[in-house]
Amino acid sequence: MSRVYNFSAGPAVLPLSVLEQAQAEMLDYQGTGMSVMEMSHRSAAYMAIIAEAEALVRELMGVPTNYKVLFQQGGATGQFTMVPMNLLTDRSQKAAYVHTGSWSKKAMSEAKKQCDNVVMVASSEASNFNYIPDQGDWQPFADAAYLHVTNNNTIFGTEYHWTPESGDVPLVGDMSSNILSRPVDVSKYGIIYAGAQKNLGPSGVTLVIVREDLLGRRSNLPVMLDYKVQAESESMHNTPPTYAIYILGLVLKWVKAQGGVAGMEAQNIAKAALLYKAIDEMAFYSCPTQVESRSRMNVPFILSDDRLNESFLSEAKKADLVTLKGHRSVGGMRASLYNAMPLAGVEALVAFMGDFAKRHG
Ligand SMILES: Cc1ncc(COP(=O)(O)O)c(C=O)c1O
Repeated sequence: MSRVYNFSAGPAVLPLSVLEQAQAEMLDYQGTGMSVMEMSHRSAAYMAIIAEAEALVRELMGVPTNYKVLFQQGGATGQFTMVPMNLLTDRSQKAAYVHTGSWSKKAMSEAKKQCDNVVMVASSEASNFNYIPDQGDWQPFADAAYLHVTNNNTIFGTEYHWTPESGDVPLVGDMSSNILSRPVDVSKYGIIYAGAQKNLGPSGVTLVIVREDLLGRRSNLPVMLDYKVQAESESMHNTPPTYAIYILGLVLKWVKAQGGVAGMEAQNIAKAALLYKAIDEMAFYSCPTQVESRSRMNVPFILSDDRLNESFLSEAKKADLVTLKGHRSVGGMRASLYNAMPLAGVEALVAFMGDFAKRHG
Protein backbone atom coordinates (compact mmCIF):
# COMPACT_ATOMS: atom_id res chain seq x y z
CA MET A 1 0.00 0.00 0.00
CA SER A 2 1.25 3.45 -0.81
CA ARG A 3 -0.34 6.59 0.61
CA VAL A 4 0.49 10.16 -0.37
CA TYR A 5 0.17 13.41 1.54
CA ASN A 6 -3.01 14.79 0.01
CA PHE A 7 -3.40 18.56 0.37
CA SER A 8 -6.76 18.63 -1.41
CA ALA A 9 -9.25 21.35 -0.43
CA GLY A 10 -12.04 18.78 -0.48
CA PRO A 11 -12.97 15.99 -0.64
CA ALA A 12 -9.88 15.69 1.47
CA VAL A 13 -7.63 13.45 3.49
CA LEU A 14 -9.26 11.24 6.13
CA PRO A 15 -7.54 9.73 9.16
CA LEU A 16 -5.86 6.47 8.15
CA SER A 17 -7.22 4.66 11.21
CA VAL A 18 -10.76 5.60 10.13
CA LEU A 19 -10.23 4.14 6.68
CA GLU A 20 -8.72 1.02 8.19
CA GLN A 21 -11.64 0.55 10.55
CA ALA A 22 -14.11 1.05 7.69
CA GLN A 23 -12.15 -1.52 5.69
CA ALA A 24 -12.17 -4.00 8.57
CA GLU A 25 -15.92 -3.55 9.02
CA MET A 26 -16.77 -3.42 5.33
CA LEU A 27 -18.14 -6.94 4.83
CA ASP A 28 -19.51 -7.63 8.28
CA TYR A 29 -20.36 -4.67 10.47
CA GLN A 30 -20.13 -5.79 14.09
CA GLY A 31 -21.57 -9.24 13.53
CA THR A 32 -24.55 -8.12 11.44
CA GLY A 33 -23.23 -10.07 8.46
CA MET A 34 -23.59 -7.05 6.20
CA SER A 35 -21.91 -3.81 5.31
CA VAL A 36 -23.27 -0.54 6.73
CA MET A 37 -24.06 0.32 3.10
CA GLU A 38 -26.46 -2.60 2.86
CA MET A 39 -28.26 -1.95 6.12
CA SER A 40 -31.75 -0.52 6.57
CA HIS A 41 -31.57 2.96 7.99
CA ARG A 42 -34.31 1.92 10.41
CA SER A 43 -32.43 -1.12 11.70
CA ALA A 44 -31.27 -1.13 15.32
CA ALA A 45 -27.63 -1.33 14.22
CA TYR A 46 -27.96 1.74 12.02
CA MET A 47 -30.05 3.73 14.49
CA ALA A 48 -27.20 3.24 16.97
CA ILE A 49 -24.70 4.56 14.41
CA ILE A 50 -26.61 7.78 13.72
CA ALA A 51 -27.47 8.33 17.39
CA GLU A 52 -23.81 7.99 18.33
CA ALA A 53 -22.76 10.40 15.58
CA GLU A 54 -25.21 12.98 16.86
CA ALA A 55 -24.11 12.46 20.47
CA LEU A 56 -20.48 12.94 19.46
CA VAL A 57 -21.24 16.17 17.58
CA ARG A 58 -23.00 17.42 20.70
CA GLU A 59 -20.19 16.38 23.00
CA LEU A 60 -17.27 17.59 20.86
CA MET A 61 -18.84 20.93 19.96
CA GLY A 62 -20.61 21.50 23.27
CA VAL A 63 -23.95 21.91 21.50
CA PRO A 64 -26.54 23.35 23.93
CA THR A 65 -29.74 21.33 24.46
CA ASN A 66 -31.90 23.91 22.66
CA TYR A 67 -30.21 23.11 19.36
CA LYS A 68 -30.99 20.35 16.86
CA VAL A 69 -28.23 18.45 15.11
CA LEU A 70 -29.20 17.43 11.57
CA PHE A 71 -27.55 15.33 8.89
CA GLN A 72 -28.71 16.75 5.58
CA GLN A 73 -28.08 16.14 1.91
CA GLY A 74 -27.49 18.74 -0.78
CA GLY A 75 -24.09 19.89 0.49
CA ALA A 76 -23.28 23.28 1.94
CA THR A 77 -24.70 24.66 -1.30
CA GLY A 78 -28.08 23.27 -0.28
CA GLN A 79 -27.79 25.35 2.90
CA PHE A 80 -27.31 28.49 0.79
CA THR A 81 -30.98 27.89 -0.13
CA MET A 82 -32.30 26.40 3.11
CA VAL A 83 -31.09 29.25 5.30
CA PRO A 84 -33.05 32.04 3.56
CA MET A 85 -35.96 29.72 2.81
CA ASN A 86 -36.41 28.82 6.48
CA LEU A 87 -35.48 32.08 8.16
CA LEU A 88 -37.28 34.68 6.03
CA THR A 89 -41.02 34.97 6.44
CA ASP A 90 -41.39 37.28 3.46
CA ARG A 91 -39.26 38.37 0.53
CA SER A 92 -38.89 41.94 1.75
CA GLN A 93 -37.12 41.01 4.99
CA LYS A 94 -33.46 41.88 5.11
CA ALA A 95 -30.83 39.12 4.81
CA ALA A 96 -27.33 40.34 5.74
CA TYR A 97 -24.13 38.82 4.37
CA VAL A 98 -20.43 39.44 4.90
CA HIS A 99 -18.76 38.93 1.54
CA THR A 100 -15.38 37.25 1.91
CA GLY A 101 -15.04 35.15 -1.23
CA SER A 102 -16.56 32.81 -3.79
CA TRP A 103 -18.64 30.88 -1.28
CA SER A 104 -20.28 33.94 0.25
CA LYS A 105 -20.98 35.13 -3.29
CA LYS A 106 -22.75 31.87 -4.06
CA ALA A 107 -24.62 32.03 -0.75
CA MET A 108 -25.85 35.55 -1.58
CA SER A 109 -26.81 34.60 -5.08
CA GLU A 110 -29.00 31.74 -3.80
CA ALA A 111 -30.48 34.03 -1.13
CA LYS A 112 -31.49 36.50 -3.84
CA LYS A 113 -33.83 33.87 -5.26
CA GLN A 114 -35.73 33.93 -1.94
CA CYS A 115 -35.28 37.53 -0.93
CA ASP A 116 -35.52 41.00 -2.47
CA ASN A 117 -33.44 42.58 0.28
CA VAL A 118 -30.06 40.83 0.41
CA VAL A 119 -27.51 43.29 1.77
CA MET A 120 -23.77 43.02 1.89
CA VAL A 121 -22.67 44.51 5.21
CA ALA A 122 -18.97 44.26 4.38
CA SER A 123 -16.76 42.97 1.58
CA SER A 124 -13.07 42.32 1.02
CA GLU A 125 -13.53 41.95 -2.74
CA ALA A 126 -11.51 45.08 -3.57
CA SER A 127 -8.35 43.32 -2.36
CA ASN A 128 -9.21 39.93 -3.85
CA PHE A 129 -10.60 38.70 -0.52
CA ASN A 130 -7.25 38.57 1.23
CA TYR A 131 -8.61 39.53 4.65
CA ILE A 132 -11.68 39.33 6.89
CA PRO A 133 -13.21 42.81 7.31
CA ASP A 134 -13.18 44.06 10.91
CA GLN A 135 -16.62 44.10 12.44
CA GLY A 136 -16.06 47.78 13.32
CA ASP A 137 -16.20 48.54 9.58
CA TRP A 138 -19.43 46.66 8.85
CA GLN A 139 -22.70 48.36 7.91
CA PRO A 140 -25.45 48.08 10.55
CA PHE A 141 -27.64 44.98 10.28
CA ALA A 142 -29.79 45.04 13.44
CA ASP A 143 -32.98 44.93 11.34
CA ALA A 144 -31.92 41.80 9.40
CA ALA A 145 -33.61 38.39 9.73
CA TYR A 146 -30.14 36.84 9.98
CA LEU A 147 -26.47 37.58 9.43
CA HIS A 148 -24.46 35.11 7.33
CA VAL A 149 -20.68 34.67 7.53
CA THR A 150 -18.29 32.19 5.93
CA ASN A 151 -16.07 31.27 8.88
CA ASN A 152 -13.28 29.92 6.71
CA ASN A 153 -12.75 30.86 3.09
CA THR A 154 -11.45 27.71 1.47
CA ILE A 155 -10.40 29.34 -1.79
CA PHE A 156 -8.82 32.57 -0.55
CA GLY A 157 -7.32 31.14 2.65
CA THR A 158 -8.81 33.51 5.20
CA GLU A 159 -10.53 32.65 8.46
CA TYR A 160 -12.43 34.43 11.23
CA HIS A 161 -10.35 34.05 14.37
CA TRP A 162 -13.20 35.67 16.29
CA THR A 163 -16.95 35.32 16.56
CA PRO A 164 -19.03 38.14 15.08
CA GLU A 165 -21.35 39.92 17.52
CA SER A 166 -24.83 39.81 16.08
CA GLY A 167 -26.97 40.85 19.06
CA ASP A 168 -30.50 39.50 18.61
CA VAL A 169 -29.97 38.77 14.93
CA PRO A 170 -29.41 35.03 14.38
CA LEU A 171 -25.82 34.46 13.25
CA VAL A 172 -25.43 31.84 10.51
CA GLY A 173 -21.97 30.34 10.00
CA ASP A 174 -20.75 28.37 7.00
CA MET A 175 -18.07 26.28 8.72
CA SER A 176 -17.60 23.83 5.85
CA SER A 177 -13.84 24.13 5.88
CA ASN A 178 -13.00 24.70 9.53
CA ILE A 179 -15.58 22.83 11.57
CA LEU A 180 -14.05 20.83 14.45
CA SER A 181 -10.69 22.47 13.83
CA ARG A 182 -11.06 24.79 16.83
CA PRO A 183 -13.49 25.33 19.69
CA VAL A 184 -16.66 27.26 18.75
CA ASP A 185 -19.22 28.82 21.07
CA VAL A 186 -22.30 27.31 19.42
CA SER A 187 -24.60 29.45 21.58
CA LYS A 188 -23.48 32.53 19.63
CA TYR A 189 -24.96 31.08 16.45
CA GLY A 190 -28.50 30.53 15.19
CA ILE A 191 -27.33 28.06 12.55
CA ILE A 192 -24.00 26.39 11.83
CA TYR A 193 -23.58 24.27 8.72
CA ALA A 194 -20.78 22.35 7.08
CA GLY A 195 -20.43 20.05 4.11
CA ALA A 196 -18.64 16.99 5.50
CA GLN A 197 -15.96 16.47 2.88
CA LYS A 198 -13.17 18.45 4.53
CA ASN A 199 -13.06 17.93 8.28
CA LEU A 200 -15.93 15.54 8.93
CA GLY A 201 -15.89 12.66 6.48
CA PRO A 202 -16.87 11.90 2.90
CA SER A 203 -19.07 14.08 0.72
CA GLY A 204 -22.80 13.37 0.70
CA VAL A 205 -23.70 14.52 4.19
CA THR A 206 -23.97 18.06 5.53
CA LEU A 207 -23.97 18.78 9.23
CA VAL A 208 -26.48 21.43 10.34
CA ILE A 209 -26.82 22.71 13.89
CA VAL A 210 -29.92 24.86 14.31
CA ARG A 211 -31.38 26.65 17.31
CA GLU A 212 -34.88 25.36 18.05
CA ASP A 213 -36.63 28.73 18.02
CA LEU A 214 -35.64 29.14 14.36
CA LEU A 215 -37.60 26.04 13.31
CA GLY A 216 -41.03 26.42 11.76
CA ARG A 217 -40.91 30.12 10.86
CA ARG A 218 -42.34 29.10 7.49
CA SER A 219 -44.93 26.44 6.81
CA ASN A 220 -45.44 24.29 3.74
CA LEU A 221 -41.82 24.22 2.66
CA PRO A 222 -40.68 21.26 0.55
CA VAL A 223 -40.08 18.55 3.15
CA MET A 224 -36.44 18.04 2.27
CA LEU A 225 -35.76 21.75 2.66
CA ASP A 226 -37.64 22.28 5.92
CA TYR A 227 -35.47 22.27 9.06
CA LYS A 228 -38.55 21.60 11.20
CA VAL A 229 -39.50 18.44 9.29
CA GLN A 230 -35.88 17.30 9.29
CA ALA A 231 -35.55 17.96 13.02
CA GLU A 232 -38.82 16.22 13.93
CA SER A 233 -37.83 13.14 11.98
CA GLU A 234 -34.27 13.21 13.38
CA SER A 235 -32.81 13.43 9.86
CA MET A 236 -34.78 10.29 8.90
CA HIS A 237 -37.68 11.76 6.93
CA ASN A 238 -36.27 9.82 4.02
CA THR A 239 -33.22 7.59 3.64
CA PRO A 240 -30.25 9.53 4.96
CA PRO A 241 -26.75 9.16 3.42
CA THR A 242 -26.13 6.18 5.66
CA TYR A 243 -22.55 5.29 4.81
CA ALA A 244 -21.34 8.91 4.87
CA ILE A 245 -22.85 9.33 8.35
CA TYR A 246 -21.16 6.13 9.51
CA ILE A 247 -17.74 7.41 8.36
CA LEU A 248 -18.49 10.80 9.92
CA GLY A 249 -19.11 8.99 13.21
CA LEU A 250 -15.74 7.24 12.94
CA VAL A 251 -14.05 10.59 12.24
CA LEU A 252 -15.74 12.09 15.31
CA LYS A 253 -14.42 9.23 17.47
CA TRP A 254 -10.96 9.90 16.07
CA VAL A 255 -11.27 13.62 16.89
CA LYS A 256 -12.26 12.69 20.44
CA ALA A 257 -9.18 10.49 20.73
CA GLN A 258 -7.03 13.44 19.60
CA GLY A 259 -8.18 15.41 22.63
CA GLY A 260 -11.36 16.77 21.06
CA VAL A 261 -11.50 20.12 19.32
CA ALA A 262 -9.00 21.64 21.75
CA GLY A 263 -6.52 18.91 20.87
CA MET A 264 -7.22 19.40 17.17
CA GLU A 265 -6.75 23.13 17.52
CA ALA A 266 -3.31 22.71 19.10
CA GLN A 267 -2.24 20.46 16.22
CA ASN A 268 -3.72 22.83 13.64
CA ILE A 269 -1.94 25.85 15.12
CA ALA A 270 1.37 23.98 14.99
CA LYS A 271 0.89 22.79 11.40
CA ALA A 272 -0.21 26.18 10.07
CA ALA A 273 2.59 28.01 11.94
CA LEU A 274 5.19 25.72 10.41
CA LEU A 275 3.99 26.33 6.86
CA TYR A 276 3.42 30.10 7.17
CA LYS A 277 6.85 30.48 8.77
CA ALA A 278 8.46 28.67 5.84
CA ILE A 279 6.59 30.83 3.32
CA ASP A 280 7.49 34.05 5.16
CA GLU A 281 11.14 33.11 5.60
CA MET A 282 11.88 32.06 2.05
CA ALA A 283 11.99 34.95 -0.41
CA PHE A 284 11.03 32.47 -3.15
CA TYR A 285 7.47 32.15 -1.74
CA SER A 286 4.84 34.63 -0.67
CA CYS A 287 1.41 34.41 0.86
CA PRO A 288 -1.32 36.69 -0.52
CA THR A 289 -3.39 36.85 2.69
CA GLN A 290 -3.09 39.42 5.48
CA VAL A 291 -1.42 37.93 8.55
CA GLU A 292 -4.25 38.40 11.05
CA SER A 293 -6.80 36.75 8.72
CA ARG A 294 -4.71 33.77 7.66
CA SER A 295 -6.55 30.48 7.64
CA ARG A 296 -5.18 27.51 9.56
CA MET A 297 -6.95 25.19 7.14
CA ASN A 298 -6.18 26.46 3.64
CA VAL A 299 -2.82 28.06 2.96
CA PRO A 300 -2.37 29.73 -0.44
CA PHE A 301 1.18 30.55 -1.54
CA ILE A 302 2.71 32.00 -4.65
CA LEU A 303 6.06 31.13 -6.24
CA SER A 304 8.28 34.06 -7.19
CA ASP A 305 8.07 32.95 -10.82
CA ASP A 306 4.73 31.63 -12.12
CA ARG A 307 6.51 29.75 -14.87
CA LEU A 308 7.79 27.33 -12.24
CA ASN A 309 4.30 26.30 -11.10
CA GLU A 310 4.13 23.21 -13.28
CA SER A 311 7.60 21.99 -12.22
CA PHE A 312 6.71 22.60 -8.58
CA LEU A 313 3.57 20.49 -8.91
CA SER A 314 5.20 17.66 -10.83
CA GLU A 315 8.25 17.48 -8.55
CA ALA A 316 6.01 17.64 -5.47
CA LYS A 317 3.99 14.76 -6.86
CA LYS A 318 7.13 12.69 -7.25
CA ALA A 319 7.75 13.36 -3.55
CA ASP A 320 4.20 12.08 -2.78
CA LEU A 321 2.89 15.59 -2.04
CA VAL A 322 -0.26 15.97 -4.12
CA THR A 323 -3.20 18.29 -4.91
CA LEU A 324 -1.27 21.48 -4.25
CA LYS A 325 -2.44 23.47 -7.26
CA GLY A 326 -3.98 26.77 -6.17
CA HIS A 327 -7.49 27.79 -7.09
CA ARG A 328 -7.56 29.82 -10.32
CA SER A 329 -8.91 32.90 -8.50
CA VAL A 330 -5.72 33.12 -6.44
CA GLY A 331 -3.16 31.27 -8.56
CA GLY A 332 0.01 29.62 -7.29
CA MET A 333 -0.40 26.84 -4.76
CA ARG A 334 -2.77 25.98 -1.95
CA ALA A 335 -2.07 23.49 0.82
CA SER A 336 -5.13 22.42 2.79
CA LEU A 337 -4.19 21.34 6.30
CA TYR A 338 -7.40 19.83 7.59
CA ASN A 339 -7.57 17.92 10.86
CA ALA A 340 -6.51 14.64 9.27
CA MET A 341 -3.33 16.05 7.68
CA PRO A 342 -0.54 14.88 9.97
CA LEU A 343 2.27 17.22 11.07
CA ALA A 344 4.65 14.90 9.17
CA GLY A 345 2.86 15.87 5.94
CA VAL A 346 3.47 19.57 6.57
CA GLU A 347 7.09 18.85 7.53
CA ALA A 348 7.56 16.96 4.27
CA LEU A 349 6.00 19.83 2.31
CA VAL A 350 8.18 22.45 3.99
CA ALA A 351 11.33 20.37 3.36
CA PHE A 352 10.34 19.98 -0.29
CA MET A 353 9.65 23.72 -0.63
CA GLY A 354 13.10 24.54 0.78
CA ASP A 355 14.78 22.14 -1.58
CA PHE A 356 12.79 23.38 -4.60
CA ALA A 357 13.60 27.02 -3.79
CA LYS A 358 17.31 26.19 -3.52
CA ARG A 359 17.34 24.50 -6.89
CA HIS A 360 15.19 27.04 -8.73
CA GLY A 361 15.50 30.27 -6.75
C1 LIG B 1 -16.73 27.39 2.64
C2 LIG B 1 -17.49 26.53 1.68
N1 LIG B 1 -18.81 26.68 1.60
C3 LIG B 1 -19.56 25.93 0.75
C4 LIG B 1 -18.98 24.98 -0.06
C5 LIG B 1 -19.83 24.17 -0.99
O1 LIG B 1 -19.92 22.90 -0.45
P1 LIG B 1 -20.72 21.71 -1.16
O2 LIG B 1 -19.88 21.24 -2.28
O3 LIG B 1 -20.88 20.72 -0.04
O4 LIG B 1 -22.04 22.24 -1.62
C6 LIG B 1 -17.59 24.77 0.01
C7 LIG B 1 -16.95 23.75 -0.84
O5 LIG B 1 -15.75 23.66 -0.98
C8 LIG B 1 -16.84 25.59 0.90
O6 LIG B 1 -15.51 25.44 0.97
